[in-house]
Amino acid sequence: MELARSLTLIAHFLGLAMILGPFFIQMRARTNYAFGWVLTGATVQLLTGIALTGVAEMRLADDEMSLNYLKIGVKLVATLAIFVVALKARVRQRGVSPTGNQRALLPLLHVSGALALANVAIAVLW
Ligand code: HEM
Repeated sequence: MELARSLTLIAHFLGLAMILGPFFIQMRARTNYAFGWVLTGATVQLLTGIALTGVAEMRLADDEMSLNYLKIGVKLVATLAIFVVALKARVRQRGVSPTGNQRALLPLLHVSGALALANVAIAVLW
């Protein structure tokens, strides 16, 4: 159980990097935003987050542990929002030339980065 939790948590950190990496590197760029990575990262976060919740529920039976479902729910909604924003951006990006100015899509990268940062803060501080 502990190994399953550790491996899933590692994947959870990789998914986090896939969202925040493009955000930090491209927050001032004009084109070629890596929304594909952001979308993959959001998918990884949804799958690993739900798996981590499942593993934690199983551990509930063993320990005197309790789960904060409100916190998990807020993280789930924020991650679904990142997924939708990245999907929308990816679809709009396909209609623009790869060398053209894609600046109109930059707010979507900022929204996904801000929501991922909020989720890190929620995960650690709440
Ligand atoms: C962008 C999305 C997300 C980010 C950036 C994120 C970030 C994090 C971080 C940094 C941790 C480690 C906290 C610590 O060990 O102190 C964590 C743990 C956790 N996350 Fe997420 N998370 C995201 C999405 C989700 C989602 C969607 C769920 C559930 C549906 C979820 C459920 C969990 C759970 C249950 C843990 C605790 C794992 C454990 O210690 O056993 N996360 N998350």
